[in-house]
Amino acid sequence: MRVAARALRTDAARGRTHAPVQRFTMQHSARRQFADATVPLAFVDSRDGQTIQVEAEVGKTVLEAALDHDVDIEAACGGELACSTCHVILEQALYDKLEPPDEEEEDMLDLAWGLEDTSRLCCQIKVSPELKGATFVIPEDPDI
Ligand code: FES
Repeated sequence: MRVAARALRTDAARGRTHAPVQRFTMQHSARRQFADATVPLAFVDSRDGQTIQVEAEVGKTVLEAALDHDVDIEAACGGELACSTCHVILEQALYDKLEPPDEEEEDMLDLAWGLEDTSRLCCQIKVSPELKGATFVIPEDPDI
């Protein structure tokens, strides 16, 4: 105890005791601010023409945002990039703004119904501030 107290005093004299705590607090605060941010998104369901407006949490996927708000999207694999049932169609401007789909997503998209040039799997798109106001069209499945 005596040794520990001396070590603490020595560190305090060198100004070390508070620096790590302050750094942690700033990182935690910044992370919390980021996690609390939301952006408005819209999902248009081609099956019934209904538009659903949601506030999507930044950092989640667009699929998670849809499911959080009871948007009727199948997502058979739960976002594991093993199906194409989370297929959505983007507006051209938004599609161009995002990173292009990787090869694995392209392969899965080839299995999707109603494929368009701006199709994406929404489990592969992260919600970010640049998606503010974006609309995602859920295509109609001709087999249903
Ligand atoms: Fe299966 Fe997106 S939910 S690929």
